[in-house]
Amino acid sequence: MLKGKEVILGVTGSIAAYKSAEIVRELIKQGAKVQVVMTKAATAFITPLSLQTLSGRTVITDLFSSPSAWEIEHVSLAERADLILIAPATANIIGKIAGGIADDMLSTLVLAARSPILIAPAMNEAMYENPILKANIEKLKNHGFCFIEPEEGDLACGKKGKGRLASIETIIRGVLTAIRNPQSTEQSAVHSPQSTVGSPQAIDRGLFRNPKSEIRNRKILITAGPTQEPIDPVRYISNPSSGRMGLALAEAAHRQGGEVIVVTGPIALEPPPGVTTIRVQTAQQMREAVMEHFSSVDIFISAAAVSDYQPEKSAKEKIKKTKDRLTLELVKTPDILAEVGQVKGENQIVVGFAAETEDLEQNARKKLEEKDLDLIVANDLTREGAGFGGETNMVTMITRSGEVIKTQKLPKIEVAEAILEQVSRISKRSGIRSQPKPDT
Ligand code: C5P
Repeated sequence: MLKGKEVILGVTGSIAAYKSAEIVRELIKQGAKVQVVMTKAATAFITPLSLQTLSGRTVITDLFSSPSAWEIEHVSLAERADLILIAPATANIIGKIAGGIADDMLSTLVLAARSPILIAPAMNEAMYENPILKANIEKLKNHGFCFIEPEEGDLACGKKGKGRLASIETIIRGVLTAIRNPQSTEQSAVHSPQSTVGSPQAIDRGLFRNPKSEIRNRKILITAGPTQEPIDPVRYISNPSSGRMGLALAEAAHRQGGEVIVVTGPIALEPPPGVTTIRVQTAQQMREAVMEHFSSVDIFISAAAVSDYQPEKSAKEKIKKTKDRLTLELVKTPDILAEVGQVKGENQIVVGFAAETEDLEQNARKKLEEKDLDLIVANDLTREGAGFGGETNMVTMITRSGEVIKTQKLPKIEVAEAILEQVSRISKRSGIRSQPKPDT
């Protein structure tokens, strides 16, 4: 996935610095070329030799190099990099970057960089909660830096709290998204009237350094996963939706600075950190949760595979295997998306999905009109690598103005980014502004 990509891994002096060894290993496994740059404090926690052995490159530290050497080196390194990842990042390096200080190799590199910069903080909870650090993070986010939030858990200081370095898996996912995201690239495909996004040319650098993302500071409500409609206490009607597409949308929207609420049916996957999750079982419960929040959001994306029918009655006790035939009477579930379409305000953008096995575009267009949507994302369920369950998707997006945008077969996170790119375009074009917040 990262074949041929140059990743600079900045390691700073946190107790979590030892985890950088695992990060290097994973990046290399994904095909990246990794240049480790350590701060002086980091070398007290893990030896440069360890990271050198794993990365196969001389680790840059400030210990022995003279300032004049790194003054020159940082420019070529910064130019070569496809991404700079700082993991773990201390409050100190965040403060230095926010203050524009360049007094060692890593901070100098960051100042000279044009690539996306991902920062994964790790520190004790009190430090993480400190308003000065919070302001620094906010400032950097406004400059387009992207943060991989720390997790809750046992901290090195013996306490529990938020501050643990995000899991290696989350960090690697962040790197993959950062490198793949076509969001703010100049080469990003032109979309009209029929075009393909996600082509290798459209995938380049510059992703998270996009302070202008229309998603930033927007409230986004996303439904995900299947619903389960009980037949009796142990049986239900459902479908094989994994929730992966909805969660990918949540992750992408959160990374672009959106405030995300996910309403999900029963799924095995964990929602990404930093998003509010509401778990439901039935279509009826999903409807209630959506309706409770819809009026206060800017964007609604209905990625859930909501059951269209539910048993008219759900048996109180487990149905016994006594009869040869059993007839279930089914009734329609509420069509959440259609209901949202009816109550949506002028400033709200509503996106629906259409999973089809025939006449994809025609059926999707019909749905777009019937449900009064701004964008419909159609999956052809008959094509390999599209639709339910899998890791990839291949979609056709149709806008209200009739534009048709097709993606190739892509990982769902990239499809999510392509969808958000369309949402941003719709928002920009119609001059839609954020919903006024209740207290403003
Ligand atoms: O009409 P159809 O069910 O094919 O439309 C699919 C779209 O409608 C999806 O976005 C899905 O999330 C949404 N939907 C819904 N409530 C239902 C059925 C589908 O919100 N009961």
